[in-house]
Amino acid sequence: MGQQSAGGTRTRLDAEEWSRFWERGTVTTFEGHFRGNYDAEIRDFWRAAFAPLPAGAAVVDLATGNGAVALLAAEFARAESRPLQVVGLDSAAIDAQRLEAARPELAADLAAVTLQGGVRLEATGLEPASVDLVTSQYGFEYGDTAAGSREIARILRPGGRVAMVIHHDGSAILSQAREGLAQVRMCLEEERFLYLGRRMIKLFRGLKPGPQRGGVQWTPGAIRLREELMAAAARLQQHARRPEVRRADAGFLEFIVPAVLKLLEQSRALSPAALEQAWGEIEGEAEAYRLRMADLVSAACSERDMARIGTEFAAAGLEDAAWVPLLYRGELLLGWTLAARKP
Ligand SMILES: C[S@@+](CC[C@H](N)C(=O)[O-])C[C@H]1O[C@@H](n2cnc3c(N)ncnc32)[C@H](O)[C@@H]1O
Repeated sequence: MGQQSAGGTRTRLDAEEWSRFWERGTVTTFEGHFRGNYDAEIRDFWRAAFAPLPAGAAVVDLATGNGAVALLAAEFARAESRPLQVVGLDSAAIDAQRLEAARPELAADLAAVTLQGGVRLEATGLEPASVDLVTSQYGFEYGDTAAGSREIARILRPGGRVAMVIHHDGSAILSQAREGLAQVRMCLEEERFLYLGRRMIKLFRGLKPGPQRGGVQWTPGAIRLREELMAAAARLQQHARRPEVRRADAGFLEFIVPAVLKLLEQSRALSPAALEQAWGEIEGEAEAYRLRMADLVSAACSERDMARIGTEFAAAGLEDAAWVPLLYRGELLLGWTLAARKP
């Protein structure tokens, strides 16, 4: 189960929720931000990590999701004509066939990797001293890092290496996540937009479908409700248009406001059951987004967390841990890379 924050609201996604996320067939968690897979300096970092590997080397990507880093390893191996044994493990259910159906252009690289769900990074079940390179991107910090460090030290061969990209609480990704959470709060608490929408839906649900719905008895209460809802929608849309919000990411508001307004517009043509279902989907999307952003914020590392992971690596017997900030397009901090080796 996910963890709870002090206020009682859940902040961690569980494996089932991650499984539902990966069902969308996305390779990265930043839908709409990277074309295909991670690029620029992120891809360069991974290519540099794969470069020293000899042909046939074993690479294991922990918390792989839909295999972003595993797929970059396969792409590297193909480009260099240097076959690698690449395995991606994740605690969520990962379905490579479904991913291939959604993303046929990945077929060749998917055929060169093994993606396996239901495997926690703290207990991979892999043979001791069987891996040349352990990787993880925006993944290791979601798990129990002390137990994960011991597991990495156990599965690495002597001379084997670790390469990671870790979320940092000062990164552009975290600013975006905090802006996303502010939008959710504005929508749910300050403007009570979903609450007002739900009341409108209830009003419509009570009416029979069909043209007679056009003759809704607009009681003074119903008119007030509609006005309140439309005013809240206008304020949210105005907020989404602010340059600093657009720069950070107005994605949540850009999705939620039109989705609610469109459903209300269509509601006269829908049966009560269909209306209820469509409304449930909107509320579900909003909660899933909130949870994903809260999860990201709680997984991100502060300087103290980075020092703690360094200590955990050393205690597990991993040496030369080195952290480097990862700048994207030369300017955006997207996290820190972490490299280490097993002596
Ligand atoms: C932000 S996603 C990163 C996925 C991928 N590495 C990427 O770069 O896009 C975090 C992943 O960590 C996985 N995860 C969380 N806790 C885990 C654990 N203890 N063991 C294995 N995977 C875990 C989640 O299921 C999710 O797929």
